[in-house]
Amino acid sequence: KKKITIAIDGYSSTGKSTLAKELAHHLGYVYVDTGAMYRAVTLYAMQKGFIGIGFFDIKSLVASLPTIKLVFKFNPDLGFAEMYLNDLNVEKEIRTIEVSNYVSQVAEISEVRSKLVEQQQEMGKNKGIVMDGRDIGTIVFPNADLKIFMTASPLTRAERRFKELQKKGDQVTFDEVLKNVEQRDYIDTHREDSPLVKAKDAIEFDNSTISKQEQFEKVLKLIHI
Ligand code: C5P
Repeated sequence: KKKITIAIDGYSSTGKSTLAKELAHHLGYVYVDTGAMYRAVTLYAMQKGFIGIGFFDIKSLVASLPTIKLVFKFNPDLGFAEMYLNDLNVEKEIRTIEVSNYVSQVAEISEVRSKLVEQQQEMGKNKGIVMDGRDIGTIVFPNADLKIFMTASPLTRAERRFKELQKKGDQVTFDEVLKNVEQRDYIDTHREDSPLVKAKDAIEFDNSTISKQEQFEKVLKLIHI
């Protein structure tokens, strides 16, 4: 059976990872959440004191990039891979609002992007992969067999993220989450290096108007293997 590459891009909290996980599971493919990689680099920068309220030591972060090891390890109990930063499982830490508040600034740095893009291309070189992010269909796999671009209204997205964070016991307000979603979208679409943009050949889905199930079925129909 022929293996293909599926690229899923879009704004934050549009349900990219839910769709990508379902597709990977259905097809027996590897799922890669590239946002987790940018989040792990951000967590590293926070832990080293390179980034904090009102300051950001980009030089030091770039200098220490070679010491950052990112590995995905499949967790059979969860059914998906978890992010390891220098051999430590950071899956929980990278999902906090603090990391969300800094991640888009870290993702603007070209040196960070080229390191992660190279690793992502390596992971996908044998196809049979579903990857989600912001630049997968445009930069990481411009020749992907199927490209999906997901959107949803900011309010729908903030509500989704807010519920997720609440479930985890994170003490955030809805306004804080909405502000974060809007800020990240702004930075992600306006940065110089690999801005978030729909690839010409991507198929767009507005997640606030159709159900998850409907969307999954529509995407499946687009896959011809
Ligand atoms: O997907 P998630 O919302 O976890 O991504 C977190 C952030 O990482 C995004 O807001 C964006 O700034 C950055 N990112 C990126 N390129 C990717 C994936 C994520 O710039 N391919």
